Amino acid sequence: MNNTQHFDAVIFDLDGVIANTAKFHFLAWRQLAEELGIHLPDEAESRLKGLERMASLELILAESDAHYSETQKQLLADKKNKHYCRLIETLTPMDLLRGAGELLEQLVIRDIPVALASASKNAAAVIERLGIAERFTYIADANRVQNPKPDPEIFLMAAQGLNIAPAACLAIEDAAAGVESINRAGMFSVGVGNQQELGEANKVIGSLNEFSVEDYFKS
Ligand code: BG6
Ligand code: MG
Repeated sequence: MNNTQHFDAVIFDLDGVIANTAKFHFLAWRQLAEELGIHLPDEAESRLKGLERMASLELILAESDAHYSETQKQLLADKKNKHYCRLIETLTPMDLLRGAGELLEQLVIRDIPVALASASKNAAAVIERLGIAERFTYIADANRVQNPKPDPEIFLMAAQGLNIAPAACLAIEDAAAGVESINRAGMFSVGVGNQQELGEANKVIGSLNEFSVEDYFKS
């Protein structure tokens, strides 16, 4: 395919696009749910995808009739994060998702600015463990934004951090809320996953190794 539109920068989501960490988030939530006597069905994994920490907790607690105060909810979210941090201690560059390492390398070789827009407060630790931290010119993560995806704030912040106009950015996501966030930021959205879930994206691919840099960037 030869795309007629060309872009100046790429903004990546992290969990589920670059890193195989979506499974760790789910395992950590499932562990917490079990501790609370809540059964978390497998299909909850896709509903949790891309949701920030407290919104994920609310979704899980909705499966129970118990009432939790805001302080208790904070403690539960901290507990899940401890489970998650223990799981990501095992991360290595082998946990890069298919095509991610190669794509990042091609972008750097071509001098195309790259930023991260991640809903995770653990994003910096994850990219460090994956050995790709130096590939990013700018990192926008949940520690810096007020409004979670699908609000466009995090992608707009990433574009601003790169000093590139939003319309000249191409951004990549694996969650529907993230795709909405990109679209609302006025960027070109690429969804990694299935067409059904990510139908709002300008382009959907199965994995990053289907992404061709030549189609979107002038050499
Ligand atoms: C997103 C993940 O990137 O970050 C979600 O897709 C996760 O599953 C969210 O809940 C928040 O992550 P963290 O590490 O701040 O709890
Ligand atoms: Mg994601």
